[in-house]
Amino acid sequence: LTVAVLCGGRSTERDVSLDSGRCIANGLEQCAPGRVARVALVEWRADGEFELDGERLDAGAALARLATFDACVLALHGGAGEDGTIQGWFELGGVSYTGSGVAASAFAMDKHVTRLVGRSLGLAVAPGVACGRGDDLDEALEPLRQLRAAAYFVKDRRGGSSIGTTRVESAGALVAAARAALETVEQLVVEVGVVGTEVSCAVFDGTGRAEAWPVIEVVPTGGLFFDFQQKYDAQGASEFCPPRTVGEGAQRIVQDQAVRLFRALGCRGVARVDFVLPASDENAPVLLELNTLPGMTPRSLVPLAAAQVGLDYPALCLALARAAAH
Ligand code: DAL
Ligand code: MG
Repeated sequence: LTVAVLCGGRSTERDVSLDSGRCIANGLEQCAPGRVARVALVEWRADGEFELDGERLDAGAALARLATFDACVLALHGGAGEDGTIQGWFELGGVSYTGSGVAASAFAMDKHVTRLVGRSLGLAVAPGVACGRGDDLDEALEPLRQLRAAAYFVKDRRGGSSIGTTRVESAGALVAAARAALETVEQLVVEVGVVGTEVSCAVFDGTGRAEAWPVIEVVPTGGLFFDFQQKYDAQGASEFCPPRTVGEGAQRIVQDQAVRLFRALGCRGVARVDFVLPASDENAPVLLELNTLPGMTPRSLVPLAAAQVGLDYPALCLALARAAAH
């Protein structure tokens, strides 16, 4: 098997992606002898060019080179790397890549679409609305303000790693927070905050049958939510798989809902679905989102769950690459 690992890109999650990419390339190099004949770490540079084995390539040359590998492991996060753009480019260029295809990537990147699909399956979502620069925010957010919730989340509709997410503590501050967020992003999803335990469930489909891996529980060490710092700092949240406090019934419900959403969106490879289990009833998970290119850093969640199903980090990387190669 010859594998290219593509990382970097021009999204706000570039640094997370570089970390995921380096780890995956290392992991593939540590696979048992004979499994992976060649690993190349390819950086999609901030200037738009690509770097492979110390060589600078423009997009066209990079596409042709990537097509010579059996598989391209996508370690990209956010923006064009995760929203179907790269996936479509690879389809046209004949590159075998990991993870979801064009449509599933585009659907899942959009938190509003994910909410709609989840709801259509009967999954619970927090009360929320989508709004953008052209909208009358007073009018758009009034239904949420009426709820007088203790907290709201203002999110970049196509964001990742909680970049651009803010927690707002009063209905009165909501419109100003949304207006401020719209200075940097075009569209938002605004949701009522659910008090409870954040959990995540990886779903893997390498053979045509989606399976849920054990649920991961996120325990923050402080801070107000699972924000960027809690996600990636050494002093950030602790993650437990198997979970520390979540009952078995709730775990099964989360796994079942994660698989149903994965299938409804038409995902492939590995994806990770995030939920909050309300403190009032842990058996009624509230869907947050589905990530089609989940983080693979040492602090990320999918490797934790993979270890529980007998895949150490190199074996996980190999399983992803194999699922792509065809
Ligand atoms: N967007 C980050 C990388 C994740 O979902 O893990
Ligand atoms: Mg995400």
